[in-house]
Amino acid sequence: MTLQKSKKSAIEPPIVRLRCREDGPLVVELPQAIDGTPSVSVQVTDHHRVAFTLPTHKSVLALCRCGKSANRPFCDGSHKTCEFRAGETAR
Ligand code: FES
Repeated sequence: MTLQKSKKSAIEPPIVRLRCREDGPLVVELPQAIDGTPSVSVQVTDHHRVAFTLPTHKSVLALCRCGKSANRPFCDGSHKTCEFRAGETAR
């Protein structure tokens, strides 16, 4: 009698990548479905527990870390002009 090895599932769970840009936003990269739309949904809430609607067609989001964006919680590029220096880095 021989035992068969169990087959690994060919389906991998989707991976959401978070990338901390030096002195810039936190970039969220969402996995895409075959048609190019994000295959997972993400909910962003602020410190008051206010939920923000995310654009469903985007697979990359940038979240503000400098506090100067006029479109918070999203980055609008203001970190470049306010000389934001992040105190911490992702390693
Ligand atoms: S990190 Fe880009 S505007 Fe704040």
